[in-house]
Amino acid sequence: MEIAYLNGQWMPPSEAKVSVFDRGFMFGDGVYEVMPVYDGRIFTKAQHLARLARSQAEIGLAPVMSAEAWSTLLDEAVEKSGEAQALIYIQVTRGTAIERSHVYPDTPPTVFLTVTAFSPKTASEIQPLRVVTAEDIRWHRADIKVTSLIANGMIKNQALANGYDDAIMIRGDKVTEGTASNVFIVVNGEIITPPKSRWLLHGITRDEMIRAAADVGLSLREEDFDESRLSSASEIWLSSTGLELAPVGEVNDQRVGDGAPGPIWRQVFEGFQARKRLID
Ligand code: PDD
Repeated sequence: MEIAYLNGQWMPPSEAKVSVFDRGFMFGDGVYEVMPVYDGRIFTKAQHLARLARSQAEIGLAPVMSAEAWSTLLDEAVEKSGEAQALIYIQVTRGTAIERSHVYPDTPPTVFLTVTAFSPKTASEIQPLRVVTAEDIRWHRADIKVTSLIANGMIKNQALANGYDDAIMIRGDKVTEGTASNVFIVVNGEIITPPKSRWLLHGITRDEMIRAAADVGLSLREEDFDESRLSSASEIWLSSTGLELAPVGEVNDQRVGDGAPGPIWRQVFEGFQARKRLID
């Protein structure tokens, strides 16, 4: 059952309401997190909470509670939802201030979370994605998980309108990431992903895939690459909490490898599935 928590209270999501003066609504002044629940347990919870704390710190929002208190609250949320496979969404905004000002008000933050049933696709259900490249028009702090997602939305929806499943973004001569995912390529058998920087979100699934690749003995480099590498790659993948690891079958109407999920994708995907089973 879907459940929501808003500022200390539990309710059905449809009953959760905030003021129109909430700065999340007025200014996009907030941060968020999305984390997975597998078999009733939250995977990579500490990492997601650490990123939430970092996002808050980066936008000058004081911690709303300790990591331990968050952890207890999230476990309670999963238990109340009764869901074994789910996504937890957390939003923290700067709260409600009636006077409209760019200057941060001294208001209590709005803390909102939901638990929604969600099952990632199994290997046999996965269909390779058709993606297009697009200019990365976002701001210079893509490493902060802010609620203002309009640029990502514009790029994604333009890709959909043109008949693609998603876009891989290019800033200058560098590939950055997907509209809601990180990107990996395979060149000459080696896996490459752009390094962490202010140009991309430091994906928790990205980190897990790097570990999964090491677990199964594959070599991986964190290195910037340009758009031309996408056409010479034998495999391209997108990673995120919801996608896990999605193979790309076509980029800019050109097949990647033979268009089917590649052998290295399969090894890393399986390595990741093994890591999921290790949740403590
Ligand atoms: N998106 N890059 C961007 C721009 C993202 O929005 C996301 C996640 C990722 C992958 O991060 P992670 O592996 O921690 O999920 C990379 C989430 C899932 C969302 O917005 O719903």
